[in-house]
Amino acid sequence: MFKIAVLVSGSGSNLQSIINNIKNGNLNCKLEIVIGDRPCYGIDRAKENGIEGVLVDRKIYKNNLCEEINNILATKEIDLVVLAGFLSIIDEKFVEKWKNKIINIHPSLLPKFGGKGMYGLKVHEAVVANKEKESGCTVHYVDSGVDSGQIILQAKVQVFSSDTAEVLQKRVLVEEHKLLPRAIGEIIKKK
Ligand code: GAR
Repeated sequence: MFKIAVLVSGSGSNLQSIINNIKNGNLNCKLEIVIGDRPCYGIDRAKENGIEGVLVDRKIYKNNLCEEINNILATKEIDLVVLAGFLSIIDEKFVEKWKNKIINIHPSLLPKFGGKGMYGLKVHEAVVANKEKESGCTVHYVDSGVDSGQIILQAKVQVFSSDTAEVLQKRVLVEEHKLLPRAIGEIIKKK
């Protein structure tokens, strides 16, 4: 059975979509563990769904955060690490260890509106400020840069002149919840 680990920092709505797709049989894999880098609802969601949820606090582990996460993952046989709203920067050693086995979801049409400091609502604020006509989300492999790895899938949404960043964020999230399970499904099929 294909085994995945999900890393979170926030509410974990993308995590929930993975859980739902596993439960309804759309995704043929086992979610072995959810790791959060800060106290967050994503860890609680895991536990509520009977999945191991672990806090590896970035404030405690600081520069050793990735090493500690890796130590935990090393105790499982993980085929794919999924960053689902994980906001700590992954270090090079971790990227090298998980090369081609780690993916991220980002709430814009990369390479637009990616890079350091571009996360969550900030992305949508920038899209609205730039008067973009379309936005969307991207699932990509993680490399040693920030949001620069090979793109796997993208989904587009329209941006309306009346949009606030919050309204746009909600529209993009609907697509994220479909795109991330689709990307995981494609990777499982290739294996
Ligand atoms: C999602 O919109 C995800 O794309 C974004 O954080 C949100 C997490 O929501 N990730 C980034 O901005 C990474 N650069 P969730 O916790 O409800 O899944």
